[in-house]
Parts: sequence; structure tokens; C-alpha cells
Amino acid sequence: MIQPVIMAGGSGTRLWPLSRAGYPKQFLVLEGNTSLFQQAAQRLAGLGGHGQQALPPIIVGNEEHRFLVLDQLRELRLEPDAVMLEPLGRNTAPALTLAALQALEAGQDPVLVVTPADQTIGDGAAFGGALHQAVQQAAEGAVVILGITPDRPETGYGYIRTVADGAALAVAQFVEKPDLVTAESYLREGGYYWNSGMFVLRASRWVEALQAFRPDILAATQAAFAARSVDAKFVRPAKAEFAAVPAESVDYAVMERLPGSALMPLRMVPLNAGWNDLGAWEAVWQVAVKDEAGNAARGDAIVADSRNTLVHATSRLVSVVGLEDVVVVETPDAVLVADRARSQDVKKIVQQLDSSQ
Ligand code: GDD
Ligand code: MG
Repeated sequence: MIQPVIMAGGSGTRLWPLSRAGYPKQFLVLEGNTSLFQQAAQRLAGLGGHGQQALPPIIVGNEEHRFLVLDQLRELRLEPDAVMLEPLGRNTAPALTLAALQALEAGQDPVLVVTPADQTIGDGAAFGGALHQAVQQAAEGAVVILGITPDRPETGYGYIRTVADGAALAVAQFVEKPDLVTAESYLREGGYYWNSGMFVLRASRWVEALQAFRPDILAATQAAFAARSVDAKFVRPAKAEFAAVPAESVDYAVMERLPGSALMPLRMVPLNAGWNDLGAWEAVWQVAVKDEAGNAARGDAIVADSRNTLVHATSRLVSVVGLEDVVVVETPDAVLVADRARSQDVKKIVQQLDSSQ
């Protein structure tokens, strides 16, 4: 039995000003006609087959976005198994724990296919093939990460070094978000992959691993789950208990620690499917449809004598002339103009905004 899980409670601050607390990037339509969250749900809806039955997805998101989640699923005619609503974000380790506890409630121990809600994948068939392999290995007890071949020393990702283990690839080392010098050395050395953020593992394996490395997170999340309230598809962990859960990501809490332990096998299946994490405006520009001069324009935008720009207009005409490598994003109440290469630093603006409020 396969249980898809979508983690959709992030805030996506680097895509400000389009991505906002009330409407974060996973729910935005950035490319094509569907949001990143909808694309994730659609990819997972096609998971069954190969003798495996796939259940409807468990969504783990923020209370504030419950109607966005339901409406966007209904647009696709998809019904979730459950929507777990966090009263506040505690990062992905507690989020995955909530999904695992919910999945185990049904009395089975399904293989969880855990995906972020902020990525695009070009080749659905290649994705299905890689996932099929991952599900097989996870059913046998391994924790499996889908890995991406890196093409630049990106510091926003986890890095994985693998060694052959029979026909499979064992993860020998996992380093979450290394600094630039380290990332550059990994690219020079070769043999490293990026963590796609997609994990495949039995629900009980996650609980065991967390028990071994972060029993505090497990116990606190269990307490919040035990005192939950249920309202149709909405499952709400108890607020005070959940607020007391330590905030940590899946990567730091468990994945970095698994290779050095004999606890359970950590494997990687390569994913060659046109993967892109739309983390910042640079990545949005990378996947966008562009003119011959490399300009991507969305909405009511006029771009003249410019090269490699991204101009995103939402509420009025935006025109640029003579610009190179610049991002312009216009919304009714805020405009961003940024050096494309400094896309990651947009979060500094959001931090300044937060601290001035
Ligand atoms: N429910 C819930 N609650 N979801 C969350 C929370 C939370 O508190 N925080 C983040 N998420 C969701 C985000 O919406 C996203 O879909 C996913 O979990 C991953 O979180 P990010 O915050 O986007 O993580 P990241 O991009 O910095 O890093 C992760 O993904 C990279 C690949 O995109 C890590 O797994 C890296 O190792 C990986 O390379
Ligand atoms: Mg991300």
C-alpha cells in the first residue's frame, strides 16, 4: 500500500512579493496552468499500478491555508485522505511525523511517498519509473531518497554521496545545505547528488528513526497528535502541544544522521526527470518560457533591449528597457527589483519587513 504525503506548510519567502504568508509560493501558478501544490498532487495521483495500490494523499499544511488546499485539490477533482492542519510551522520533521502517525492509525504500515509542494518535474514517466524502484526498496525496509544530478554549487540543497550496494545505491554521506566552498568541492570531486526532498519509506521506519535520533520531537508530536481534533477531512493537532514541538527539518533531524548509523539502510534512486525546485526567482527564470534574448515576461509586461530578465506583472503595465540579469516582480502593494544572481537574498527583505512590523 502506498500513502502519498504532501508537505505544503512552508512560507516560500524568497519568492516575495508574489509569495505571501497568506498565499505562499506552493499555491501560486508560476508556470503553466496549475500551482506547484496542484502539480505535486497530480503527480502522486498517478502512482498506483505495478501491483501497488495508492491511497488518496495526506496533506500536511498550515491552518491558515486550509481552504487553499481543499479548493486547489477540488479543482483537480481530487479528494485528500486527510488534511493535517498545523497551528504554526515547526518545519518538516514534525510535519512528516504527523503524516506517519495518521497513516499508522489505519492499522497498516504503508510506504509513504513524501514530497514537497514547491517543485516542478518535466518528465512524469521518468518520475513514475524512479518512484516505482524507490517504493520497492522501501517496502523491503529501506529509507529511500530521490537524488538529482547537480549542475551548480547550490547551497540551498542537501548533498548526498553514494556507494554501490549490489544493484542499489547506498547513501554514504548526507550533508544538508553546505556552505559554498564545500558545495564547490563536492561538484569538483563528483559523485554527489542533490537531495530532491522526496523520501520514500514505511511509516513505522520514520517513527523508529526519529525515536533513535530525536525522541524529543517524536514524543512532543505524539502528544499533539493524541490530543487532536477531527472535523471531516481536517485533522488538527492540539495547539499548545504542537507549539511545544522543537522545529527541525527531516534532513537535519534524521537524514544527516542515518548514514553513520547501523539503524536502517538509507538508499538513493537517481531521478532524471527535469526536476526543479522553484526556491527563488532565479529558478523561476530558469524554467520560464523565454524570448531569444532570454527575457521571461508574465502578465502585462513590455521588455525592450534587455537580456536575461524576468518581468512579472500582476496588476498594471510594467515596462523595462536596457536591463540585463534583472528580476522585476510587481504586485498591487509591493514591487521587487533585484539582481537575478542575488535571488536568494530576497529573504533579507522579508526579514526586514517582519522585524519592522
Ligand atoms: N507542513 C509543513 N510544515 N510543511 C512545511 C513546513 C512546515 O513547517 N516547512 C516547510 N514545509 C514544506 C514546504 O512547503 C516544502 O514543500 C517542503 O516542506 C520543503 O521545505 P522547504 O522549506 O522548501 O525546504 P528546503 O527547500 O529549504 O530544503 C529541502 O528541500 C531541498 C530540495 O528542494 C531539503 O530537503 C533539502 O535537503 C533539499 O535539497
Ligand atoms: Mg524548498
